[in-house]
Amino acid sequence: MNTFSAPKGTYDLLPPSSAVYLAIRERLSAPLRRSGYGYIETPVFEDIKLFSRGVGESTDIVSKEMYSLTTKGGDELGLRPEGTASVVRATLQANLHKLGNLPVKLWYSGSFYRYERAQKGRYRQFAQIGAEAIGAEDPALDAELIILADDAFRSLGLTNYQLLVNSLGDKECRPVYRTALVDFLAGLDLDEDTRRRAEINPLRVLDDKRQSVQDQLVDAPMLRDYLCEACKAYDEQVRALLTAAGVAFVDDPKLVRGLDYYTRTTFEFVHGGLGAQSAIGGGGRYDGLSEMLGGPALPSVGWGLGVDRTFLAMEAEGIVLELPATTSVYAVALGEEAKNVLFGKVTELRRAGIATDLAFGVKTIKNAMKSADRSGARFALVAGDRDLAAGVVQLKDMTTGEQTPVELEALVTTLKEKQL
Ligand code: HAM
Repeated sequence: MNTFSAPKGTYDLLPPSSAVYLAIRERLSAPLRRSGYGYIETPVFEDIKLFSRGVGESTDIVSKEMYSLTTKGGDELGLRPEGTASVVRATLQANLHKLGNLPVKLWYSGSFYRYERAQKGRYRQFAQIGAEAIGAEDPALDAELIILADDAFRSLGLTNYQLLVNSLGDKECRPVYRTALVDFLAGLDLDEDTRRRAEINPLRVLDDKRQSVQDQLVDAPMLRDYLCEACKAYDEQVRALLTAAGVAFVDDPKLVRGLDYYTRTTFEFVHGGLGAQSAIGGGGRYDGLSEMLGGPALPSVGWGLGVDRTFLAMEAEGIVLELPATTSVYAVALGEEAKNVLFGKVTELRRAGIATDLAFGVKTIKNAMKSADRSGARFALVAGDRDLAAGVVQLKDMTTGEQTPVELEALVTTLKEKQL
């Protein structure tokens, strides 16, 4: 019979590297958890219109990459391609914006789904740590989030990345710029597809990766030159706060991002060791999204950091995290009686907070000691019926090979003193 494989563009997280993923999630979210962000979880599927309206009909994410399904009851659902639309939907639904202080600060950790061309660093199911601050227009909030993302990456030891920053303007100045850009694009030699894209969202053309297109864009009007006074002042304040916090950034006037809800501040963290899939995180301000979803005006800002790409970035920089040993003590029982006694001790050690494992289904002592070795434990506990009769177990230091008898009664305290 054929065996099964994980679907294209997905992969299994397996030990031991899965422990690194957990640690990455932990560290990427730690700065948020100490900055007033509360944890939120939303369904992995939503009414498909939430995404077409929120993320934007013209985006690749919605028009080409969405996993959609019709339920037996006839509901049209989409697997979430990103988290922001869901978080704003949940905020509005629960009236979080009316219940407490603004901004509503939320963070999440989860899987997202995009039917992309799968390759290294680009998956059809991937994980993000995300943050959204909903309901405040304040450059300090944009700066806070960018600083927290930078702190998060630094806490993992990453250094080979750049922060790109841009402003996309607001509903005053963007339409003026849009008209100028449309006029400019009309004079270029663009293929049918690109032209259609230009009609729906001309800014997206600036993001085209093809050299032939980029060459024609050299003299394109830049949004920066069209920003209204309010947007310019806002942008300058965000930048000043970043500089004061010691966060380096590069101005990228062509950074438009792949989602339609952005206004004003947009940013992306790009890593130098990842080739084409270089964005390890990105985000920005989305002042109009709540209204697009039928809510009141709630100016907001947020980001999503890619867990999978952060893992690859760490690999590229040769960073190895110091993780606590999964097993500190490994118990090997020689004989039925010994097994029962040792099993009890293993439970006691675990309850005392010491990571302990036990050899199950032991055939030979040699095999069991090999398992002890493979487990990475610092100590093995070996007990035969004779040891138990004497009320002791043998404690073997796996590094030195040294073996000493320890009173059964004193076992937990002895091991605790070794600070495992
Ligand atoms: P995004 O830029 O589409 O933004 O995704 C954020 C990050 O998720 C990317 O920088 C990348 O690291 C990771 N990512 C995206 N697609 C894939 C993929 N196919 N495979 C692996 N990693 C991927 C958003 O999703 C916005 N919701 C961020 C945001 C929050 N903006 C405001 N609030």
